[in-house]
Amino acid sequence: MTDSVVPGRQNDPRGHADPNVVPPWDNGDGGRRPPNAPTPAASSQVTTPVPLPPVAAVPAATAPPSSPAANPAIPPFAATPATPPFTTTSAGSPYTAPTFGAPLIQLTGVTKTLKGQQEPRTILAGVDLTVRSGESIAILGRSGSGKSTLLSVIGLFDRPDAGRYLLNDRDITKLPERKAAALRSAEFGFVFQRFFLLKHLTAAQNVAMALVNGQGWLPRRKRKAKVMAALDRVGIAHLAKHKPPRLSGGEQQRVAIARALVREPRVLLADEPTGALDTETGNLVVEVLRATTDQGCGLVLVTHDRDHAAKMSRVLRLADGILNPANESQANERVVA
Ligand SMILES: Nc1ncnc2c1ncn2[C@@H]1O[C@H](COP(=O)(O)OP(=O)(O)OP(=O)(O)O)[C@@H](O)[C@H]1O
Ligand SMILES: [Mg+2]
Repeated sequence: MTDSVVPGRQNDPRGHADPNVVPPWDNGDGGRRPPNAPTPAASSQVTTPVPLPPVAAVPAATAPPSSPAANPAIPPFAATPATPPFTTTSAGSPYTAPTFGAPLIQLTGVTKTLKGQQEPRTILAGVDLTVRSGESIAILGRSGSGKSTLLSVIGLFDRPDAGRYLLNDRDITKLPERKAAALRSAEFGFVFQRFFLLKHLTAAQNVAMALVNGQGWLPRRKRKAKVMAALDRVGIAHLAKHKPPRLSGGEQQRVAIARALVREPRVLLADEPTGALDTETGNLVVEVLRATTDQGCGLVLVTHDRDHAAKMSRVLRLADGILNPANESQANERVVA
């Protein structure tokens, strides 16, 4: 399977396969598990990679409704104007913070100690974080400061050792793993530095992979409509029939974002999504991600790039296991890995 994945730089220390693609047995309600499949990892241990379903299990090709030639009216991708930075405007007038929707995520006093082969290390030492609907949050921090660990906790791959986690006002701090898995696939979309695309499938088919779930496949027409809407949302509906080797890095990442969006998650978690892209392409991808919040999605973007961070509605910094607002001098600092 791994040799089917388009190569890219791996940045997920826990080695997750693409979590947007939910294996059919991972239905969160005690459903079937394939023989010899690994059981979910214990919360504080190294997480077992989520297995992708075997390629042979991919249903009939999800072709787009029409070829680009037959559908020339697909509008080109239009970049949405960036959200004002979190600081005051250049004219000196105070920047008025936009109002956002209901809290989607509320972490209070979350701690996480990782127990590897060496001594246990406290990575999160009391994190407080609220993510509201429509809000985009950048998280900066030195390499090893725990940004990916925090995303893993938010995305329900890891569970907090202490503290409280409310998701849509529901206390899920101690939710059993099976229910957490169901919630993860229903509520979250994931984007990584690595694209995790299957190179023998078209862009549309890669996106459709995320619609596999414990309840089986959606009716074909609905599936196609969802896939095309997701590709359209990131401006590449016209590339639906292209396979990854024919797509640029930025286009591949947009396919990955479409795959994360196709189940209409409430929160998008992006871990250094521009790490493998050049500056210009990275800017475009960040803009695509930020634009997802226009429709109410919450976005948490982990990045080392201060310019990308400044496009979010809020910039935070993780240091010494604590999340704090990043001041401008910190945000302007290029964090060296
Ligand atoms: N499964 C694990 N078991 C033990 N230690 C781990 C595990 N995963 C990560 N760590 C350690 O936890 C610390 C935080 O890692 P994490 O990947 O969250 O940092 P990060 O801020 O995302 O870094 P980067 O910017 O390089 O991606 C690191 O010191 C890392 O070595
Ligand atoms: Mg990381």
